Order: sequence, then structure tokens, then C-alpha cells
Amino acid sequence: MAEYTSSQKVLVIHGPNLNMLGMREPDIYGHQTLEEIDTALQAQAERLGLHIETFQSNHEGDIVDKIQQASGSCHGIIINPAAYTHTSIAIRDALSLVNIPVIELHLSNIYKRESFRRTSMISAVVTAQISGLGSHGYLLALDGLAQVLQG
Ligand code: DQA
Repeated sequence: MAEYTSSQKVLVIHGPNLNMLGMREPDIYGHQTLEEIDTALQAQAERLGLHIETFQSNHEGDIVDKIQQASGSCHGIIINPAAYTHTSIAIRDALSLVNIPVIELHLSNIYKRESFRRTSMISAVVTAQISGLGSHGYLLALDGLAQVLQG
């Protein structure tokens, strides 16, 4: 785990339907709620000496706005765009314009599921992707981002 002390800020974005984690298809997405995931992320961020802000939206434009606002105020982004992963050129374009590292995160392994989930609109513009490790993937993403920010 990266040992890290700074005032660097990471934005964590959760896309549509992730507010329903815990009760949403638990066989695929696990039993943890989004609140529990965010609490674990906050604790991990403290250990790493990072500030994090977590944000969830069911709306594509709100996610685009949030990514644009991160430009200049955040040092890195972790994003699970959920279903927008497979459809949103707008989110891809927004991630392309912010000049900071981005980790793409999926709870499930999107390559083992329906064929429409195998295409990610954003994977070609992100720093790294984690897919299939459940909620633990968020903690690994934060640790990985800390390593990237450390240089
Ligand atoms: C997801 C995978 C997507 O295909 C799906 O639409 C989601 C969640 C994941 O975390 O595994 O909502 O991004």
C-alpha cells in the first residue's frame, strides 16, 4: 500500500443505479451498500493521506458537469460509470479533457457478461481499469491512484 501524505484530492464518481447497491442484483454486485463503500473509501483515503469526495448520480449530464468541475480542483478521478460505460461518448469526452489520472472501476467483470457490456467507451482514455473484484476494487483503485499521483 502506498504511504502518502499530501493535500491531494480524489473524486469518486458512481453512475446510475449504484445508489441501489446492497439490494440490486447482489449475486452480481455484492451485498455492500454504496454508503458502506464510501465509508471504506474515506477510511482508506485517510490512511493514504488523500482527500476524497464521493458523488453518485443517475444522470449523464450531471456526471459530465462533475468531471468538468474536477479540472483544476482534483488530482485524480475514480469512476464507475455503470451503464453509461457502454454508451456515453459525452462522459468519455469529459474524461479526455481533464488532464488528470482516471481509474475506471467495475464491481463485476464486464468481459464475462452480456456482449454489450464488453465495450467500454472510456477504457481508451483512462489510466487503468479494475473490473470484477467487487467492492474491494474501489480500495485497490484508490491505492493505485495514490501510487500514480506519487509518481
Ligand atoms: C457495472 C457494470 C455495468 O455493465 C452495469 O451497467 C453497472 C455496473 C459494474 O460495476 O460492474 O451498472 O459498471
